[in-house]
Parts: sequence; structure tokens; C-alpha cells
Amino acid sequence: MRKAKVVVTRNIPRRALEMLQERTEVFVWESDEEIIPRDVLLREVRDAAAIFTNVADQIDREVFDAAPHLRVVATMAVGFDNIDIAEATRRGIPVGHTPGVLSETTADLTFSLLMATARRIPEADRYVREGRWKSWSPMLLTGQDIYGATIGIIGMGRIGEAVARRAKGFDMNILYHNRSRKPEAEEALGAQYRPLDELLAESDYVVLMAPATKETNKLIGERELSLMKPDAIFINASRGTNVDEAALYQALKRKQIWAAGLDVFETEPIGADHPLLTLDNVVVAPHIGSASIATRTRMAQMTAENILRGLAGEKLLHTVNAVVYEK
Ligand code: GLV
Repeated sequence: MRKAKVVVTRNIPRRALEMLQERTEVFVWESDEEIIPRDVLLREVRDAAAIFTNVADQIDREVFDAAPHLRVVATMAVGFDNIDIAEATRRGIPVGHTPGVLSETTADLTFSLLMATARRIPEADRYVREGRWKSWSPMLLTGQDIYGATIGIIGMGRIGEAVARRAKGFDMNILYHNRSRKPEAEEALGAQYRPLDELLAESDYVVLMAPATKETNKLIGERELSLMKPDAIFINASRGTNVDEAALYQALKRKQIWAAGLDVFETEPIGADHPLLTLDNVVVAPHIGSASIATRTRMAQMTAENILRGLAGEKLLHTVNAVVYEK
């Protein structure tokens, strides 16, 4: 019997690929940088039973329509806003993702971005490299303190809590906003719940960790930015669509807030001519929250495992739309 076909939309760590190749016929879009062209994706899924995807692909109704034999979709990510989950559910197709394994790594990146922005590390690096360093100087590249400051975390899920644990190590005062209260985080970390507007007004660091949903779309816009302190630092390591980027640009340009550290953008990738990149008070990264070698390897293996389970008719390790099992 012909083996089930899996479409892997990007180069993935070897062990994960081998896991799939042992049991399935694999098509891989072998690129580290270029996303799979739409026509190739639509062509390759025609006889596919599974798709191994990532945050850069749009797995929408057109893709589901093109793939009549599809039995499982698994994304090498915790976020799944790039996949039409309702459409998958309607067709009884489980969608797998990789929560948990990337929380600590993503919190590390989030905190690195916070520290790099507060202490102006990229600007300092450019300053030295460009030969501009003339002498030690009392106010040269002075930034904001991290220890003892107030951090406000919007979205207190697994990653938000991991950020809070790091903040506790820096003796920060921890505020959070979330759909539901988190009594364990309040108990263990001393985190205090705040309505959004109060969190924005009180925080020295506003850290956005919420998933992209209808409710969080442009959650931070002109009004929200206007509530922040003039020396506030805004960090986004969640999804770019959670922020009104044009409003953020204006707030940063006018120094209405002090700085921003951004790992994600409204439309990715951004070009080198993006307006935010004209500002010195912006530190950017190309959506690398979970990008440690160990974590990306684990995520790829978990995604492969989700696919193999789905093809075997078993429950995935982590299913976004578990309701499909009730049918
Ligand atoms: C990355 O953005 C993820 O959702 O894992």
C-alpha cells in the first residue's frame, strides 16, 4: 500500500524529518528562508494526508479545498492564527501545535528584548562599531533600570508566567492582565491583577504576550499608548496584529513612550525600509521567540509526532480543536 503523503512546508531539523520519512512519503519545501510558494503548496497538498506547517504559511479554506485527502495539520508553533481552525474542525481534521516546550525559551527572548531595549544594547553596539566612541561619558547611552521597576504583562498564559518568573528574579513589581484571574501566579510570584487601562498607566514595562484572536486584534492602539508613562517601554513577542503599528510608530517618534522592543510585526517579514526602523528607540528581532537550537528541535519532533499520531487515527499530543474527537 502507498504510504501516506506529508507536505512539510520548510526545511526542518533532521531527526523530525527522519521520523516522518520512516513511516510516510514526505514532500519537503527545502528552503530555510523562502516560504513555500502558494502554487506549490496547493499542488502538493492535492494527494497529501498531512501538512507540517509553521507560522509563515496561510492554511486557509483554499488549502483545505485543494486537499481532499487531508487527515491532520500540525504547526511547529504554539500560535495557530495562520490556520483556519473553524474550517479544519468543520472537516473533522485535527490541528496540532506545540505548547509548553517553547515557553521558557520564548520568555528568555522576551526578557532579552526587554533588557536590550531598556539598556539600548543594539544602539550601543552600533555606536562602537561605527567608531563613534571617544571617551567614557557620564550620560552616554543611559537607559532605564530594570530591577525594581514595574512590569505589566498582558496575557498571563504559560509564556506570560515564565516572563513573570524572570521579572521576580529582578525584584520587579509584577502586574498582569488576563481574561481570567491567575491565583497561582498571584500566590507564587506576587503578581497583581489589573484592568488593562490601569496596567498600562502603572507599568514601566508593558509586555504583550496574548495570542492573536478577534478580541486581541489591535488591542494596543493610540488610546492605549496614550495611557502609558512617557518613560514606558513596550515589548511585543506575541503577534504583530495585536498592535496598531502605525499608532505605535507615532507614539515612539513623538517620544510619547520611551522605546519598544518588537519580535513580531503586523505583516511579516518587514522590509529594511519599514518606518519603525528609522527610529533609534526601537529594537527589533525577526520573530525568533522560540529560536533556540534545543527548543526548535523539540518543536519539530513534537510536530512530527502530532502528524504520525493523526495519521494513525490517534489523538495528537496537543490538539487545538479537540472537539473533532467528539464526532
Ligand atoms: C511562534 O510565534 C509560535 O506561535 O510558536
